[in-house]
Amino acid sequence: MTDPLIAAALAARENAFAPYSRFRVGAAVEDVEGNIYTGCNIENATYGLTVCAERVAVFKAISEGARQFRRVAVAADTDHLTPPCGACRQILWEFCGDVEIVMSNPHERVETYRLKDLFPRPFDGSYL
Ligand code: THU
Repeated sequence: MTDPLIAAALAARENAFAPYSRFRVGAAVEDVEGNIYTGCNIENATYGLTVCAERVAVFKAISEGARQFRRVAVAADTDHLTPPCGACRQILWEFCGDVEIVMSNPHERVETYRLKDLFPRPFDGSYL
């Protein structure tokens, strides 16, 4: 895998804590300076407290001071590539705007979208 962002998402997936669903996801966020922040899904016995890989990656980036982002990679082992869930789309819109979303799997399948196409007519701070 030559794209370092996809490689980072795939590597982060190895750290997924997913004993309940056994569905392992990795994510990686690239900021405008080229820094990469990664995340994996972290499940919880209560189920509802589970946090998706994308949100872990974005929150790590924000907590380390990154503010402007170019791309987000999501990696799971599905033939039909896994997109960010609805909650993650809202969080991605808040912090990344109309960012590029790169979906991938370990078998080198890759698809790229804009967040706006996955998440049309978002609610955000412009309404407040
Ligand atoms: N999950 C993610 O981490 N990201 C996605 O884009 C889809 C779903 C996680 C949440 C949960 O741990 C598992 O995948 C099954 O839903």
